[in-house]
Amino acid sequence: MKKDTILIVDDEPNVLKAVARLLRSDKYEIFTAASGAGALDLMEAHPASLIISDQRMPGMSGVELLQDIRKRYPDTIRIILTGSTGIEHAVGAINRGEVYRYILKPWHDEDFRLTVQRALERYHILEQNKRLTKEIERQNRALKEVNAHLEERVNERTRELTESYLSTVFVLAAAVEVKDPYTRGHSELVSRYASLIAREMGLSQKDKETVQVAGLLHDVGKIAIDERVLLKPAPLTDEERRLIEAHPKKAVSILERAKLPWDVIPIIKHHHEHYDGSGYPCRLKGKEIPSGARILAVADTFDAMNSQRPYREAYPKEIIVSELEQGSGSQFDPQVAASFLRVIRRDSQTIFERDRMASITFTDYLKNRI
Ligand SMILES: [Fe+2]
Repeated sequence: MKKDTILIVDDEPNVLKAVARLLRSDKYEIFTAASGAGALDLMEAHPASLIISDQRMPGMSGVELLQDIRKRYPDTIRIILTGSTGIEHAVGAINRGEVYRYILKPWHDEDFRLTVQRALERYHILEQNKRLTKEIERQNRALKEVNAHLEERVNERTRELTESYLSTVFVLAAAVEVKDPYTRGHSELVSRYASLIAREMGLSQKDKETVQVAGLLHDVGKIAIDERVLLKPAPLTDEERRLIEAHPKKAVSILERAKLPWDVIPIIKHHHEHYDGSGYPCRLKGKEIPSGARILAVADTFDAMNSQRPYREAYPKEIIVSELEQGSGSQFDPQVAASFLRVIRRDSQTIFERDRMASITFTDYLKNRI
């Protein structure tokens, strides 16, 4: 083990000799200086663990020296040697934290040795604390790095997974269009209108994303409806209407198996409910209808009115706007209808142009998603 270095400072050679003799041991390496200036020089060459200085010296006093040592070598433990007349100075310095202890002259040998021993113990404890603190800081930094890296990996993996789920969503949406080509682009457009409404209403990112995905999948239940009924160009019988109106529930049984990370099932199940309770499948009313479903209802009806069908033209813009206004409170949630009307008024040029709205590709969609 490395020896502890002790520096003794006194202008009286006899005292220096006596202390050096007293502390002679295998464990200590002892240096002596006859003045404050000499002590500072020696410290530069051999920084000591402990410095013991006489108080009354010509030039720099002991307290002055130890004040200086504290600034330059804050880890060195400082002890002052003083006669009874200098006690006041010594106590003041101790109270100010400049000095660790004082030893009264003449001293008792055993007390002296013990004080030195305690001082060095303190030095080692403080050193160890410093080392441990440094080590903890280093480990914390390392841990932070690992965490940051881990977080990055998790984010990357989440992105990959989301993209993979989204491609499933797009495949399902495309399957509906294959089945019912007249509604080409309808699902994507409903998703886009729904996201515009959600943004206008200040929904959270997560809710906005959920309603967007729900828009893409809202008619997925039509996959399970007989084409002869789904595509029938003539008016429907009551029985046929019932079959078509089963599509929200059919969607539930399809999507229950898909286990998507968005809570879209309740939204899709209820996208044909009316705010006044006159819709289907459950005749839910007002806020009983999930908010995403209330948004889809507006987006879905808007696109239905705004698109051409084999048996009719698209509705004129003014009629669409007035239908939305009149349906507010009966078919539609007034807040949702008002939000969409605001969106329309702001950018009616783009909103009514289905081709422009639908021109967005899957990649764009992923990019713009967040
Ligand atoms: Fe529908």
